[in-house]
Amino acid sequence: SQYSLVGLCGSLRAESLNRKLMMAAVKSFDPAEFTDGNLRFPLFDEDLEAEGIPTEVTELSDQIKAADAVVIACPEYNKAPPGVLKNALDWLSRGPAKPWADKPVALISATGGRAGGERTQFALRLMMVPFRPRLLMGPEVLVGGASEHFDADGALKTDSYIKLLDDLMAGLRAEIAR
Ligand code: FNR
Repeated sequence: SQYSLVGLCGSLRAESLNRKLMMAAVKSFDPAEFTDGNLRFPLFDEDLEAEGIPTEVTELSDQIKAADAVVIACPEYNKAPPGVLKNALDWLSRGPAKPWADKPVALISATGGRAGGERTQFALRLMMVPFRPRLLMGPEVLVGGASEHFDADGALKTDSYIKLLDDLMAGLRAEIAR
């Protein structure tokens, strides 16, 4: 497509299933330009903020603001989004830029458990309400028992999930065009 995309993955580990799912989404979206957003921010602290917004926060804020759309791969930690994502959202909410305003955003998740992260996605949706993005309502991409659905190269291999992801990414492109 002619559109640019930022991907955020709420899991920092190298072999993250959410990262693999995010890369499957990127492949489906086929962006003109892809930015792998860095979420390794310091823990939010108003005292630290008073010394200045960290450069990595400003960098991601600028990347989101410039992108046509964002895809967020959200792990489920104890039925909720990981602190990494909430911490990033809190940092991004500071400063003059409103990077999420009217931004087309799609959520996806992969979990070890069977439900595929339905609760974590719903909780993340609520966490994003203050920022007023154009958050797609679906189709919900919830990959449960996720380790079974990727091949040795990390590619998503299950047709039903590939189809769902294609539908969601088509919706994301349509939302940009709207
Ligand atoms: C988990 N996991 C998990 N899975 C799930 O389906 N529901 C849950 O509530 C939890 N809770 C949870 C808490 C913590 C602290 C960890 C580390 C893990 C399992 C989780 O889905 C699995 O480890 C995923 O593979 C994590 O995502 P990444 O790192 O593969 O992207």
